[in-house]
Amino acid sequence: MVTLKIDNISVTVPEGTTILEAAWRAGIALPTLCYYKDLNEIGACRICVVEKIGESRLIAACDNAVEEGIEILTNSPKVRAARRTNLELILSQHNSSCTTCVRSGNCTLQDLAADFGLTANPYEVALPKNDWNPDFPLIRDAQKCIRCMRCIQVCDKIQGLGIWDLNGTGTRTNVGVAGGEKIENTACVLCGQCITHCPVGALRERDDTDRVFAALADPETVTVVQIAPAVRAA
Ligand code: FES
Repeated sequence: MVTLKIDNISVTVPEGTTILEAAWRAGIALPTLCYYKDLNEIGACRICVVEKIGESRLIAACDNAVEEGIEILTNSPKVRAARRTNLELILSQHNSSCTTCVRSGNCTLQDLAADFGLTANPYEVALPKNDWNPDFPLIRDAQKCIRCMRCIQVCDKIQGLGIWDLNGTGTRTNVGVAGGEKIENTACVLCGQCITHCPVGALRERDDTDRVFAALADPETVTVVQIAPAVRAA
């Protein structure tokens, strides 16, 4: 077991526990965005940064393990300022048209912006180009991707398909179909796990509601209903 102090509260947790989980044990909630327990603990978004007393550099709580005797501050002015800047930088590369977003009301980024009281962004917004086949049943909006990499991890570690990957280098690094391939040329089985794990509206299913209504209104078309996925219904 390891004992440390978080916001002056003494916590004892098993060795290997992350600072994030230790904070939870102490009843302290930290904001997270890219983190997904046991799947994505890579410290990509830097929203969960905390201050470790004696170190000048802030550390991500989600991918740093506890150490005996350390003292952590989760809500110091330095921490709050860094989290806010990180959030503003993420938003500077995100299409924030929330009113027309399928994830509005169920979006971690939207919740964080509200929690941080962001009403304006000091950074110029620069969005990547969107190049996606709108007829494919899975829709990806590059302008909403926050590069959390959850889609890459779930497709690779859980589904074993590896459809998504990081493409490009340096500041042009983006999440996309592995090798820059067209999605329709991959082995994607449309399981939807990447959509489920996306914390924002970058991935969604194609909406066929209008086509269904048109079929229902057409007296020449016989319509049937099937629950999907059929396996689960069976
Ligand atoms: S939640 Fe910890 S770095 Fe993203």
